[in-house]
Amino acid sequence: MDKMRRCRHHHQPFLKALFHRMEKGASLMRRMSSISSTSSTSSGSVWLKAVVHNNAFIGSSSTSSSPKSMSSTASFPFSPVQSKHYASVLERTIFQPWSRKFIDSVPMPLSGEKVLDVASGTGATSREIAAILGNEDRFSRVVGIDSSEGMVEEAKRREDIFAEKRAKNEKTGEDLDLPAPITYEVVPMEEWKSEEDQFDRAYCHQGAQFFTDRERALTNVFKSLKPGAHFNVAVWAPVKGQKLFEVLRDCLIECEKEEWVPILLKPFSYSGDFESTSRVDAIDRLETDLIKAGFENVDVIFEADKVRFDSLDEALKVISVAPFGQELMSDAKLFEKFTRKFKMKMLTEGSDINDGDRASNDDLSQRIKSGTDGGDEVNVTMMSFFAHCNKPWAAGGIQSSSFKC
Ligand SMILES: C[S@@+](CC[C@H](N)C(=O)[O-])C[C@H]1O[C@@H](n2cnc3c(N)ncnc32)[C@H](O)[C@@H]1O
Repeated sequence: MDKMRRCRHHHQPFLKALFHRMEKGASLMRRMSSISSTSSTSSGSVWLKAVVHNNAFIGSSSTSSSPKSMSSTASFPFSPVQSKHYASVLERTIFQPWSRKFIDSVPMPLSGEKVLDVASGTGATSREIAAILGNEDRFSRVVGIDSSEGMVEEAKRREDIFAEKRAKNEKTGEDLDLPAPITYEVVPMEEWKSEEDQFDRAYCHQGAQFFTDRERALTNVFKSLKPGAHFNVAVWAPVKGQKLFEVLRDCLIECEKEEWVPILLKPFSYSGDFESTSRVDAIDRLETDLIKAGFENVDVIFEADKVRFDSLDEALKVISVAPFGQELMSDAKLFEKFTRKFKMKMLTEGSDINDGDRASNDDLSQRIKSGTDGGDEVNVTMMSFFAHCNKPWAAGGIQSSSFKC
């Protein structure tokens, strides 16, 4: 009886993933049109357009245009202070829900696999993967690689709690439903050395924008994967239409801190140009980079969804994670000006904010003067590209359409 239960449980993730793949195949087929018009789904998730193709944008003029260079003062990886802010604010509001959305939108991990999480940060994506894999088969593993010590410290702190529970499980023979174990390594992806052909699957959620040498970093992912293995990459779309970051950018400019704009917008500048509004340029670059590293069957989809903050004050904390965040916040006069502008802009311009509960001008200035934001819940749209590809089965790349789902 116990054996049967275990067997059924063991196969559950596989069946779940199989159904997911079948659904995914059907939904990708539905989205095969190159660029479709805006449409909403009942789940609240919005599919604005889908770009599903192989190499359709390769050779377009965008990669040859000279991108606006990123400021040389842009300082990534994240410091320990930024990492703490990231874990306490950004992870819950943005990265954990988007990690889940990302994993749900691309082929899911299967029980028993060894999965690589590239630029794993504080582990939001790794934990989502580990929860799907489960610990029942005792083979499933997640390995997270990140260049920031502070981020990895935060991730390890969380993993220690599960490690304790797993050890207790072993001792008592209890059968708690626990996630697969995760190990983390601090090393830039460009310098990471791994045994070849050892991972069954890899993910990179909002990290590829920061690679200093994309070709080296992506080639290292490629080498570490088994033939046929899937690789999924998420990068934010250009900032246009992502109100929170548009407002933060405008506040920096109005506070005469334009030099920080390229740093703020780095996560939204995969094409290399922080002023670019072209989604095609970003997709083109992503696809080119993946193919250059050796991957095939590259599909890119675009997704938009709301991110929710409890208040304007909470939304403002996003700035504390930026490399210039501490400098901005430690200058009391500058930060007061920045905060006032931010709240005013969000309350007046942010079309996503507190829908249907707009404040009158008097009320607004009163609230901003008194330093309160009235507890307004903030709902802002974020937009991301999800790329999906695979390592060829054999050198030279034997194409297999069955791996396109
Ligand atoms: C926005 S965070 C995303 C973290 C995580 N994937 C998530 O979704 O929460 C970007 C991460 O990329 C890491 N990173 C930046 N450059 C890197 C590199 N060259 N190699 C590995 N990690 C890098 C940073 O340290 C940071 O943790």
